[in-house]
Amino acid sequence: MSASQKQRDFYWQTRAIPLLLALLCGPVTAETLPKAAIASAHPLASEAGQSILSAGGNAFDAAVAVAAALAVVEPMNSGLGGGGFWLLHRAADGYRTMIDGRETAPLSAGKTLYLGKDGSPNPALSIEGPLAAAIPGSVAAMAHIATHYGKLPLKSSLAPAIRYARTGFTSGPAYQRTAKIRLQALRSSPAAAAIFLRNNEAPEPGSLIVQTDLADTLELIARDGAAGFYQGELAKRLLAGVNAAGGIWRAEDLLSYRVKEREPIRGQYRGLTITSAAPPSSGGIAILTMLNILSGYDLATVDTLTRTHLIVEAMRRAYRDRALYLGDPDYVKLPQQRLTHPDYAAGLRASLRPDKATASENLPGVEWPDQGSDTTHFSIVDKEGNRVAATLSLNYPFGACFVPPGTGVLLNDEMDDFTAKPGSANAYGLVGAAANTIAPGKRPLSSMSPTFIDTDTGFAILGTPGGSRIINMVLLAILAYADGQSAPEIVAAPRFHHQYLPDTLYFEAGQFDTFMEESLAELGHHPSAIDGRYGNMQVILWNRTRQILEAASDPRGEGAASVQ
Ligand code: DON
Repeated sequence: MSASQKQRDFYWQTRAIPLLLALLCGPVTAETLPKAAIASAHPLASEAGQSILSAGGNAFDAAVAVAAALAVVEPMNSGLGGGGFWLLHRAADGYRTMIDGRETAPLSAGKTLYLGKDGSPNPALSIEGPLAAAIPGSVAAMAHIATHYGKLPLKSSLAPAIRYARTGFTSGPAYQRTAKIRLQALRSSPAAAAIFLRNNEAPEPGSLIVQTDLADTLELIARDGAAGFYQGELAKRLLAGVNAAGGIWRAEDLLSYRVKEREPIRGQYRGLTITSAAPPSSGGIAILTMLNILSGYDLATVDTLTRTHLIVEAMRRAYRDRALYLGDPDYVKLPQQRLTHPDYAAGLRASLRPDKATASENLPGVEWPDQGSDTTHFSIVDKEGNRVAATLSLNYPFGACFVPPGTGVLLNDEMDDFTAKPGSANAYGLVGAAANTIAPGKRPLSSMSPTFIDTDTGFAILGTPGGSRIINMVLLAILAYADGQSAPEIVAAPRFHHQYLPDTLYFEAGQFDTFMEESLAELGHHPSAIDGRYGNMQVILWNRTRQILEAASDPRGEGAASVQ
């Protein structure tokens, strides 16, 4: 498709069709809310968003402000050097879209990039250093959202982030913990070590982290938009830094990066309408497959053991399909219709035994392990009813742990989300097949699942980081919402996870009592308590009937939710 044709398509999709529908059907009566709400992984980011709303911005401007602020104050989890997915709901006409700001493989990247001489993957190469970095999409996404959906210029929405970068922010325990995990890698990049470490050590909580280069970069973007990042002086510095340290970026990689607007995945579950991330995220499809399987049972009336067993069996099957079939839709044909069809789920349900776990090795599939709260999610609604659910990432904490000198931009290691070799597992133990192998310009398959739920009586906006566990966390949150739980209950609820391979049922310590654990093992599951807790969910709920707006930030994280 030519560029002008794409532009025309984009115009029809975002402007003309919604306008025509509005003319034909009469205006969509937009619902106004008494207040706005923001839930994000850092109090300063939520504050930045609220200040933009107070300055006359809408939820989309606030989303840009929150994302930019998170890039500064939560640098280990997302940033200008990363990417992500933004689910938007425009109140005026009900239009929904997913902004795909996912990173792309460099044009010089090929299928065997991370394979050693013996043909086996060398994970170090796709996890740290510039060779691990895909071409960032976050800046293009922010500029796109500001231009097409926001009301304010980037100069306004980026102002809080610029201030935080220049004057510094106080780091917390999560910062120290993740910096310790990536210490060796951060030490190998002098520019990263100078910014993110203190005397080459992980800074104690309470340390002031000043990011002058990042403030300058944000100012360039505020002035020139995406061109300030993908072209000109900054692009030259990114390329020089990456390539001097063994990377493979070309000027064309940055120049040709484009955001994609994609039709979100939609489906129904027991009176809930689910809208979630489209490929190249696997989230929306996997969530619908699981909900379709589960809709054949009345989870509200079965005992907890049976409920857990059924949910785990649904997880196993959806993650098997993820591994087998999913990848970048611009490169591979995905069986999306089939995987989200209720009849397909009925077939999967028929293979599910109520009295016994199906060993993953007995499901036809791929021949073939840990994550926490890296990556970030925020949820926003403004008083006009515009909504944003955005999950943004660098992949591992501190991404590739590499900063091209003079940019302040911490690069991602999202290349590890590709399948380095069909059948081999990535850092999250996710196996994949040909659909997710590396190709120039291709987007790696993701699990990030920003999601909206709509009912007759209200809506929810949610999402979380957590690598391969994201999809299942969102599933459990949808089921909790269906059960009538509140926002604080949903974010705090204990979690369990099965991802097909390894054939292990992970759970947060304390989630199952001994009886449950033993009973699940008797059914043929392999329960394994995880050390600590995982995820960092940010939820907003609007109850139209009771006119209650709730926002909650996961107690596992350091975030803040505000309604004002
Ligand atoms: O896109 C993905 O699925 C991963 N890069 C997300 C990484 C993540 O959530 C890390 N958090 N623990």
